[in-house]
Amino acid sequence: MNDNVNGGEAFAGNSGDPFPHQPVLYQEVLNALAPQSGKHYLDGTLGSGGHAEGILLASAPSGMLLGLDLDPKALAIASQRLFPYEERVIIRQGSYQTADEVLQQLEWPHLHGILLDLGVSSMQIDQPDRGFSFLTNGPLDMRFDPEIGRSAADLVNETPEEALSQIIWTYGEERYARRIAKVIVAARPINSTLTLAKVIKEAMPGYGSRIHPATRTFQALRIATNKELETLSSALPRLVSCLEIGGRIAVITFHSLEDRIIKQFFKRESQDCICPPEQPICTCEHQATLQVLTKKPIRPTQEEVKENPRSSSSKLRVAEKIVEA
Ligand SMILES: C[S@@+](CC[C@H](N)C(=O)[O-])C[C@H]1O[C@@H](n2cnc3c(N)ncnc32)[C@H](O)[C@@H]1O
Repeated sequence: MNDNVNGGEAFAGNSGDPFPHQPVLYQEVLNALAPQSGKHYLDGTLGSGGHAEGILLASAPSGMLLGLDLDPKALAIASQRLFPYEERVIIRQGSYQTADEVLQQLEWPHLHGILLDLGVSSMQIDQPDRGFSFLTNGPLDMRFDPEIGRSAADLVNETPEEALSQIIWTYGEERYARRIAKVIVAARPINSTLTLAKVIKEAMPGYGSRIHPATRTFQALRIATNKELETLSSALPRLVSCLEIGGRIAVITFHSLEDRIIKQFFKRESQDCICPPEQPICTCEHQATLQVLTKKPIRPTQEEVKENPRSSSSKLRVAEKIVEA
């Protein structure tokens, strides 16, 4: 079941829990995808396989699932968790952006359901050596796949001040982006998470107490390091093309930038005409391919947020394929 994974020992987190990421909006995702036996599913952000296991249970006895993740450690954990379903699961390291190529190689038919649960997992945040957290010390890395691309440290140390400020402003929605970029540039080179957090905190004595002053900058650097928004935007049409008619795509987001991309994509793809409103006659020949099933995003219940505070900003949007493009 586990081609392409580096194997390795499953990460047991700091808690000793072998599956240290609690899937958010779990029941809501299953309700949205309504998995069926005999159908094919994609979990494009497998993580520790919590949602994937739910899809496999609900699509027993013969539903099939392809699980993708960029992170080899996540794949090792998911492989362990999904071992009881090995006849019905294929796990690969790779981006959901190129899921269509994997599906073609596998010669799978069109999918009945796709899940993206975006962003970072609890186990990635809790592993100091991954560099996602400003609360524990580690190398400033932040790559989902630690073998590919430039790390957050490369970005922090090599990006000109103006461009760094733009990254922090755009991806962190940080109003003090200019000041933060300035102090970062003055303190370079910065290679560890706590050094960066300290540099930001010291420059922001009056930041307010609700969130750590480095929160938005860390979010911005993670998004930029992994090119998260570009990946999402370019993947959506490719993913929808893999759905059968009646198949559904469900996406969980954790911040407004991602949610806006999903909302706008679903809106556009559910309209027969996308000409500018001032244009009297339609010339676009656009055809709706999706029906949006969530007018407003589905949010976690109070109980879920209490039990798993990391779910608090999550939003689930779902759409169904209505015609072949
Ligand atoms: C929030 S977690 C998913 C948790 C999962 N639903 C579960 O139940 O355990 C997000 C995962 O997406 C992965 N990821 C981020 N960008 C990706 C991409 N472009 N392609 C594949 N996986 C990606 C991350 O490595 C992380 O493991």
